[in-house]
Amino acid sequence: MGRQSSDEPIMLSSIALLQERFKRLQRVKEMREERELLKMFPVTERIKATIIDHDHHDQDLGFPIAPSQTQKNSLLFQPESRRKDVVETPFSMNSWMAIGGDRGEGFNCVEEKWGLQCVATPEQTVYTTKVARNENLAKLQAGYLFPERARALSTLEGYSGYGAEQVEDNIHRLLMQKLRAAIASTFYKGLGIEETDVFVSDGAKCDITRLQILFGSNVTMAVQDPSYPAYVDSSVIMGQTGQFQKDVEKFGNIEYMRCNPENRFFPDLSSTAKTDIIFFCSPNNPTGATATREQLTQLVQFAKRNGSIIVYDSAYAMYISDDSPRSIFEIPGAKEVAIETSSFSKYAGFTGVRLGWTAVPKDLLYSDGFPVAKDFNRIFCTCFNGASNICQAGGLACLSPEGLSAMQDVIGFYKENTQIIVDTFNSLGFKVYGGKNAPYVWVHFPGRSSWDVFAEILEKTHVVTTPGSGFGPGGEGFIRVSAFGHRENVLEACRRFKQLYK
Ligand SMILES: Cc1ncc(COP(=O)(O)O)c(C=O)c1O
Repeated sequence: MGRQSSDEPIMLSSIALLQERFKRLQRVKEMREERELLKMFPVTERIKATIIDHDHHDQDLGFPIAPSQTQKNSLLFQPESRRKDVVETPFSMNSWMAIGGDRGEGFNCVEEKWGLQCVATPEQTVYTTKVARNENLAKLQAGYLFPERARALSTLEGYSGYGAEQVEDNIHRLLMQKLRAAIASTFYKGLGIEETDVFVSDGAKCDITRLQILFGSNVTMAVQDPSYPAYVDSSVIMGQTGQFQKDVEKFGNIEYMRCNPENRFFPDLSSTAKTDIIFFCSPNNPTGATATREQLTQLVQFAKRNGSIIVYDSAYAMYISDDSPRSIFEIPGAKEVAIETSSFSKYAGFTGVRLGWTAVPKDLLYSDGFPVAKDFNRIFCTCFNGASNICQAGGLACLSPEGLSAMQDVIGFYKENTQIIVDTFNSLGFKVYGGKNAPYVWVHFPGRSSWDVFAEILEKTHVVTTPGSGFGPGGEGFIRVSAFGHRENVLEACRRFKQLYK
């Protein structure tokens, strides 16, 4: 048994495959050797089993069974259920590993050792999305050539190769692993996102396109309207959309989820069409609006009902100063329906340095039960050679106690800029949105075209803003004013705004 077999998808409905897997496990003398292999299988089946003796549970394993699995299987470890009682219980490959780890002394199944007869009631208990796996990824064979080779050559001190970042063999050795661990513990502590779920990249924008490659051209998608243009444009490039419809300023086959002051910038999900993918950004660029816990709970439930995958962009999460969630994974159930992408660009001024990450939980599965993370790993190793070591070292420094405090200072500075801009437009009588948890101020010019206002401001004050309609038809009548700038420039711009609109 080797790495090869861990690369096979386990089809949840296929009891024959499960039996085959059990047979092979039977041949492994020391089950602990297979721990990495077994960690790959989030498969839960119902089986009939007999407990014949006490079991050591996961003590020998060196890694804990996920709490939910432990809980699910606790029945197996209760004294009353020992001896010859036949119990029917959900049973996962992970716990099989745990039980197998004591060389079969502790557990046996009805009739035959190692569970060859454990076929009583196969029943799928894991949640899968309804998004079909990209069939082109399924065509690929083993891992991408160069990471495979790098794995063989890499050493602690020297060559780590490129593109092999997600290979677990070197997990404690590479700088990348340290950064993954630091990201997981800084941004996802207690949320069930592990370092192995984190893909370190050269930025969230690049990951958005990689995610589109992952999903392929046969998916449908929804976006907030207005939204960061990379979602729609990458969707168009991938061939997921129809033509641009000039009359409505929308691409065909994209669900535009209108977010405006009337719905407090959160879409009306009761009238939102079901799509495979939902791009959602909070705090939002351009509106600066932040979704509440209740709203994100609705979104996760909506995705779950429809079998959709949410791509959650949290590039501005550190700007949140109220109790709005900073990560979608704060919402129960999100790990089964969401991917999160984020960035050092807005926290540490890494816009040009280029460093970001995407978290893809192991619980996120395509409709056939195949883990999305495995395909994303393949995309990463094929389309990307890793963030440079210099950028990674910079990212690690950002996540040190001093770095985190420096990032808070930077964010605090931009938030002061934001307040200056908000106060300026408020004093001029404009309705102003955003600004609170985001470095963007969304200013309403009712009845006017965004482009006209943009041109007016540019020509008369020589200040560059962004026309709201550039972010989708829902942005018409607004302009976005960014707080990313030197203080004296922001103050000067505000002085000119006051002159223009007094
Ligand atoms: C919502 C959002 N996501 C992602 C990005 C890009 O992030 P990165 O610099 O990490 O590619 C931006 C940059 O403007 C953004 O506004």
